[in-house]
Amino acid sequence: MKAIVQDSYGPADVLAYGEVDRPEAGPGDVLVRVHAAGVDRGVWHLMAGLPYLVRIMGYGFRRPTQRVPGMDMAGTVEATSSGVTRFRPGDRVFGEISGAYAEYASAPATSLEAMPANLTFEQAAGLAISGRTALRAVREMGEVTAGQRVLVIGASGGVGSYAVQIAKSYGAEVTGVCSTSKVDLVRSIGADHVIDYTREDFTDGHHQYDVILDMGGNRPLRRLRRALAERGTLVIVGGESGGRWLGGIGRGVWASLLSPIVAQRLRMQLPEERPDDLRVLRELVEAGKVTPVIDRTFPLERAADAIQYLVSGKARGKVVLTMGGAAAPTRRPPAPGTSSGRPT
Ligand SMILES: NC(=O)c1ccc[n+]([C@@H]2O[C@H](COP(=O)([O-])OP(=O)(O)OC[C@H]3O[C@@H](n4cnc5c(N)ncnc54)[C@H](OP(=O)(O)O)[C@@H]3O)[C@@H](O)[C@H]2O)c1
Repeated sequence: MKAIVQDSYGPADVLAYGEVDRPEAGPGDVLVRVHAAGVDRGVWHLMAGLPYLVRIMGYGFRRPTQRVPGMDMAGTVEATSSGVTRFRPGDRVFGEISGAYAEYASAPATSLEAMPANLTFEQAAGLAISGRTALRAVREMGEVTAGQRVLVIGASGGVGSYAVQIAKSYGAEVTGVCSTSKVDLVRSIGADHVIDYTREDFTDGHHQYDVILDMGGNRPLRRLRRALAERGTLVIVGGESGGRWLGGIGRGVWASLLSPIVAQRLRMQLPEERPDDLRVLRELVEAGKVTPVIDRTFPLERAADAIQYLVSGKARGKVVLTMGGAAAPTRRPPAPGTSSGRPT
């Protein structure tokens, strides 16, 4: 089958378009024919082998242990192994799957969910990783409740565009932070207020928030705490400003150490799969409360271009790869005020 393969860590040209054996569905697994696959920062980290920390976390010290990159996708079930009763061949599914940048991929049935009925494969391919991260940030880590003032730093990105919509669906008053060219996008997905970080310092202490979800990642902890209410909650989800050894993890570790001795709750979010996450996301999407924001699609063979586009900082929401060779048309984010674009 056709796939993207990677035999060393490095820049995007370590990715080659080639042939690999089709995977088998092991016990408890589902074999999926992939129609579209999501591109996110995690794929870039595993491509580059940076920060070096990822190499000692089981992804391969000198080269990636997983030759085919890609972590989330949408597709149709091709076959199931014995013991799998939730899915049948032909079902449309989305979810987390190792080796998603290929025509077929195999995953435990527990990592997959029925695709939201109102999404295309391209939209659903960008839902699992970023949507689940945002859901965890809002629900478990931020413990957002109705009426709270929530600041989402990185509101125009893959995770942040979901966090804005999910926090709105919880009844919060949401302020999104992004760069100038993406202000309209963040407003269109339902943010009550938008701050352009190139023009306004949102950490000057003039406004304070009950919950801050930080995906932008480059403000020092002491600045973020100035924007946080006295008993507010800060969740450090990510950021690309750290060094080559530890990446952005330093701020999160420091926050966790400081939290027990201050009134504010300072939390670092680590990746975690919870069984009901994908179902909750599907329900939010089907209820019209969350709509994936897909900026561009690239054909599978242009995976390297897609990753470079994402890390260039131009992407608005998610970038997606499509299988089948032909370049798919660009899909723009929903227009402001459309029912598909606004959470209620
Ligand atoms: N903890 C976890 O479990 C977990 C899971 C997934 C991802 N992550 C991490 O979360 C981070 C965000 O991921 P993503 O997929 O959303 O990335 P993304 O799509 O590239 O989005 C990055 C966001 O950061 C914003 N940003 C960039 N520079 C900024 C600055 N100086 N000030 C404020 N905001 C800035 C961008 O805004 P503009 O484009 O408008 O500049 C954009 O909204 C990454 O570091 C990723 O590794 C963590």
